[in-house]
Amino acid sequence: MEKPNKAWSFSVFLLVSLSLLVFNFAVYGQEKPSGYVGSDACKECHQEYFLSYSKSIHGKKAIPGSPGATQGCESCHGGGAVHIEKGGKGGILAFGKKGDGRIKSAPCLTCHENSKEMLTWSMGRHMSMGVSCDSCHMVHSTTKNNLKALEPGLCIGCHKNIRNQISRQSRHPIQEGKMRCTSCHTPHGGLTNKMLKTDSITELCYKCHTEKRGPYAFEHPPVSENCINCHSPHGSNHTGLLTRRSPQLCQGCHNLGFGHTSNAYTLQHGFGGKATANKNRFFAQGCLNCHGNIHGSNRSPIFER
Ligand code: HEC
Ligand code: HEC
Ligand code: HEC
Ligand code: HEC
Ligand code: HEC
Ligand code: HEC
Ligand code: HEC
Ligand code: HEC
Ligand code: HEC
Ligand code: HEC
Repeated sequence: MEKPNKAWSFSVFLLVSLSLLVFNFAVYGQEKPSGYVGSDACKECHQEYFLSYSKSIHGKKAIPGSPGATQGCESCHGGGAVHIEKGGKGGILAFGKKGDGRIKSAPCLTCHENSKEMLTWSMGRHMSMGVSCDSCHMVHSTTKNNLKALEPGLCIGCHKNIRNQISRQSRHPIQEGKMRCTSCHTPHGGLTNKMLKTDSITELCYKCHTEKRGPYAFEHPPVSENCINCHSPHGSNHTGLLTRRSPQLCQGCHNLGFGHTSNAYTLQHGFGGKATANKNRFFAQGCLNCHGNIHGSNRSPIFER
């Protein structure tokens, strides 16, 4: 993981503490911090945003701790006094503009950082790469979870290479809507590499493919080690989400240079380089015709069907 830049960490810390102070004032002090003018002052010039905010979950006065119950617009945009003084020219936090992601996420985190979902935000790659809350959330809206778009559109807008992978001929049914990116990933960061929902890739796959967990009397070591030794998680041009087709897949590891594992598997080349009675089984899937229970077996040490 990247080390967070100290200067930024400090400014985020400052922003967070400042906003927390503001928050405490709002709840306990019952008075506006200096530089704060209240949402009614914004309404005059920003009718549309006032309306969309009022309808949104954040505008609900009845929810304790919500912007509606505290500083309104200024809970997120910061104090507006200077902004109004200048007749709307700057002086306020604007989200839509390009800018440092950490600064844009800071007001959101003052209220959300202690939720279970957000505990690993600061360890995730989205945070460290400057992706901010408003990259995915559109808070002036009433969409579910205030999301900008539905998955997978939300994610593949930025992740173009994954968009290609999930349209390959063999794929997890993500585009079909049967599962989502967030079935496997945590958008808010995570403790693991690649922001996965589980501690390891294999655990992730077992969640839905429990029958592959075993234990088997005869284990195939690469299976319990890591499913992506052979599979591509998003999609592949080979059947069964395989990284390579057999026999190349198998020969990537079983390449002793002699015997039936590494010889070309044609009519002329069976076991030990000679054709056998079983020669026809070397066609099509090749290795899998005989070693069909490739994930492990309780009766065959060579995983025969
Ligand atoms: C007197 C009118 C007026 C008031 C009152 C006002 N604004 Fe603005 N605001 C503007 C104008 C004008 C702009 C510039 C709009 C543009 O460029 O399209 C603006 C821009 C903004 C922007 C975008 C800033 C940027 O740099 O792009 C935000 C956010 C904003 N206002 C929030 C608020 C909030 C929150 C309040 C209440 C605290 C508020 N405004 C009160 C007139 C006002
Ligand atoms: C929960 C945080 C939050 C609250 C509360 C909030 N806003 Fe926003 N506002 C945002 C975010 C985030 C954006 C970026 C666009 C989006 O997500 O919809 C935004 C966009 C805007 C913009 C367009 C300029 C920009 O920053 O992109 C204006 C103007 C604005 N808000 C004004 C207001 C006003 C006026 C209120 C109160 C009536 C208000 N906002 C309340 C978070 C908030
Ligand atoms: C002043 C505190 C506060 C701030 C600032 C704040 N939120 Fe919230 N937010 C809340 C509360 C309270 C809820 C309602 C939580 C609930 O009922 O579980 C909420 C709900 C949400 C939800 C869930 C919406 C839904 O449909 O259930 C999202 C997403 C969200 N906030 C994102 C943001 C983002 C992004 C920002 C910054 C632009 C932000 N919040 C700023 C307090 C805040
Ligand atoms: C990469 C996209 C992305 C980013 C960046 C992001 N979110 Fe989310 N967020 C989501 C998605 C997707 C969901 C819906 C999760 C689900 O359906 O299980 C969600 C759900 C939420 C919820 C409501 C659900 C819950 O479990 O509480 C809140 C609150 C929230 N996000 C806040 C934030 C805040 C605050 C930030 C910035 C610190 C942020 N999000 C950044 C994608 C994102
Ligand atoms: C079936 C579970 C699963 C689903 C669904 C899934 N992913 Fe992944 N994703 C993984 C695994 C496992 C890895 C780690 C692969 C590795 O380490 O090589 C990964 C890696 C990634 C990476 C890092 C890629 C890299 O080369 O470092 C990105 C970005 C990503 N996924 C985005 C997405 C997006 C966007 C979606 C939805 C369109 C999605 N994933 C759906 C399991 C999944
Ligand atoms: C605004 C653009 C943006 C959006 C939207 C976005 N991401 Fe990302 N994501 C990034 C960037 C930038 C990185 C870091 C560079 C990279 O690894 O590609 C990243 C990295 C990742 C990684 C790799 C993490 C690692 O440790 O290497 C995963 C997984 C991921 N995103 C999943 C998602 C999912 C799931 C969604 C949708 C809920 C999503 N992203 C939406 C920009 C985005
Ligand atoms: C959230 C549930 C879920 C998770 C997690 C998951 N899968 Fe799947 N997987 C599915 C579904 C649903 C299908 C499609 C089944 C169908 O169409 O009958 C599938 C299909 C497959 C297929 C068969 C594809 C084909 O074309 O025949 C393979 C191989 C596979 N998954 C491997 C994995 C691997 C490896 C992982 C871990 C990186 C994983 N899965 C994680 C739900 C999941
Ligand atoms: C040594 C390579 C290898 C490893 C490692 C591996 N698989 Fe497979 N897997 C295959 C092959 C080969 C197929 C057959 C593909 C076909 O039908 O064309 C397959 C098919 C599948 C299928 C679809 C057909 C079925 O049997 O249900 C699923 C689901 C699957 N694997 C899940 C997993 C999971 C989960 C893991 C990790 C625990 C894993 N695989 C590890 C080689 C492997
Ligand atoms: C990532 C490496 C890897 C891949 C890919 C792989 N294997 Fe294996 N396989 C092993 C290891 C390690 C063993 C344990 C025995 C050993 O050390 O040779 C093993 C054992 C076996 C055995 C049991 C025989 C014995 O010596 O114990 C058979 C049969 C087998 N593999 C067939 C296949 C087939 C068929 C494929 C392709 C679908 C395949 N393997 C893909 C690594 C791999
Ligand atoms: C016609 C059925 C058949 C086909 C096709 C087949 N095997 Fe085998 N394989 C066997 C039998 C039977 C054994 C056990 C007898 C032996 O060791 O010769 C075996 C043993 C093995 C072993 C363990 C012993 C050794 O030789 O290392 C490995 C590894 C193996 N096969 C891999 C493969 C690979 C890789 C392919 C595809 C290129 C393949 N097999 C194709 C039937 C087959």
